[in-house]
Amino acid sequence: QWNISSISKALVSELKHTIGTDKVLLGISGGVDSAVSALLLHKAIGKQLHCMFIDTGLLRKYEANFIVSQLSALNIQIHHVNAQNAFLKPLQGVTEPNKKRKIIGNIFIRTFKKESKKWHRRITWLAQGTIYSDVIESAGNHSTAHIIKPHHNLRFRLIEPIRDLFKDEVRTLGRELGLLPSIIQQHPFPGPGLAIRIIGKITPLYLRILREADTIFIEELKKENLYHTVDQAFAVFLPLQSVGVTGDQRRYAYTIALRAVQTKDYMTAQWAPLEYPFLQTVSRRITNEIPEVTRVVYDISSKPPATIEWE
Ligand code: XMP
Repeated sequence: QWNISSISKALVSELKHTIGTDKVLLGISGGVDSAVSALLLHKAIGKQLHCMFIDTGLLRKYEANFIVSQLSALNIQIHHVNAQNAFLKPLQGVTEPNKKRKIIGNIFIRTFKKESKKWHRRITWLAQGTIYSDVIESAGNHSTAHIIKPHHNLRFRLIEPIRDLFKDEVRTLGRELGLLPSIIQQHPFPGPGLAIRIIGKITPLYLRILREADTIFIEELKKENLYHTVDQAFAVFLPLQSVGVTGDQRRYAYTIALRAVQTKDYMTAQWAPLEYPFLQTVSRRITNEIPEVTRVVYDISSKPPATIEWE
């Protein structure tokens, strides 16, 4: 019988047995998998666990501080690396989506290596929040949460505490371990982050506008209890400037696209039929609160033929 508290106990004791008195380094992505791995490891080995969170500058508003403060509050040691410049500089002027992904992946590994050297002599194990679906679909999985493969030559031994669990089991385990529901139930967020939600080149201005718009959309979804009726929702920044009017002034400003989908497996997806009054509220807030945006559109394409992300 599938009993979460006995599974949790078994995983913890197995980790204790494997790791002994060694030290472990775990990369935290902000997602549920690495957070649950952190809690399990912390339960098993306490202060022998060192976590690292890399702020790529491509995260959503509040995201970095939120996860870092959550884990710190649970007495988990977490090293917050501010690597925004390391990511944003090489991305300057890059417009091609897969080039963006490649650059981000490479810098992520480089940053992780560089930072982990600080503890290198003391750390034996590298832990990753790989789950079962990552194992079986590893070809299709491109999350930066677990791209540090052994072949990257970090000279660590690899440990994957939740490798045998399905996503819903990871969530149940997270609940059992006392993880906040807002982390457990959050929508997936792609490894390359906001970089693939800004069409074309990435600039600090575009990032700021997108962050604000995305925060408003998610805030309203939560406020109206709609967040859990969709499986992924976010804003996309379009560098397209169209004409708008404020008072009696005509001016050109940017466009925000809202995307919300319902899906079981993310391989196919339907656009979510959010109600017009709700969309109206979101649109009004975005154009009122972000002067650089005069136009908000709702994406009514399903997958296929569209993808969930715009890049
Ligand atoms: P698409 O856009 O392919 O997205 O329909 C399907 C799911 O995958 C996520 N996604 C990514 N996740 N790195 C990731 O870690 C990526 O490069 C990437 N591209 C898409 C997307 O958010 C959705 O959940």
